[in-house]
Amino acid sequence: MMNLKEQVGIKAAEFVKDGMTVGLGTGSTAAFFVAELGRRIREENLKITGVTTSNVTSEQASKLGIPLKSIDEVDSVDLTVDGADEVDADLNGIKGGGAALLMEKIVATYSKDYIWIVDESKLSEKLGSFKVPVEVVPYGAEQVFRKFKKAGYAPTWRLRESGEKWLTDMQHYLIDLHIPEISKPEQLANELDLTVGVVEHGLFNKMVNKVIVAGKDGVRIIEK
Ligand code: A5P
Repeated sequence: MMNLKEQVGIKAAEFVKDGMTVGLGTGSTAAFFVAELGRRIREENLKITGVTTSNVTSEQASKLGIPLKSIDEVDSVDLTVDGADEVDADLNGIKGGGAALLMEKIVATYSKDYIWIVDESKLSEKLGSFKVPVEVVPYGAEQVFRKFKKAGYAPTWRLRESGEKWLTDMQHYLIDLHIPEISKPEQLANELDLTVGVVEHGLFNKMVNKVIVAGKDGVRIIEK
């Protein structure tokens, strides 16, 4: 029996057709999707170009022989498939648990079709059970952190095992916000967008067209 993440990864790969430029997400679920594309390239001679959302995914895709281009080398992306940390009933979501939110949001923004693959534990009525990651430039980052603290967002630094601050692929820091119930995700996104020093945040509000969900009763698709 395939695990839930593998089931949705393989299902999402069915939407990939010959000749497509495909955005390759990051995380343990997206890795199954990327692996399945690798298999189809090998066994079915599928022809695609991949645009990756992190160094980790670039490494995996290269090993699998998926030809890669950067987001600036393509006109647009036909389809991006990625995981998510939490998804609400209006298809707002939180991403960035794997620290790749900036590249993930850039690639998603230039994608015609955008699919999330999740197991059903990631679904919730309202966002907030997962922390909202915020990517900040190192200069002035302590000021941004204090501002979030004053706002009551209970910020914590994303740290490496060594205890040093986590550095993203784009050489920024990550601050995780603990907001137990996000009643207005758009308002919070606007506030974060307007905070100087914030490069991007993990609220992906209404960006996705389809969510493929695996649960104990099988795989289902939620569409916008
Ligand atoms: C990476 O930064 C994230 O946005 C991931 O897509 C998200 O954390 C889901 O990861 P898993 O599939 O590993 O749960």
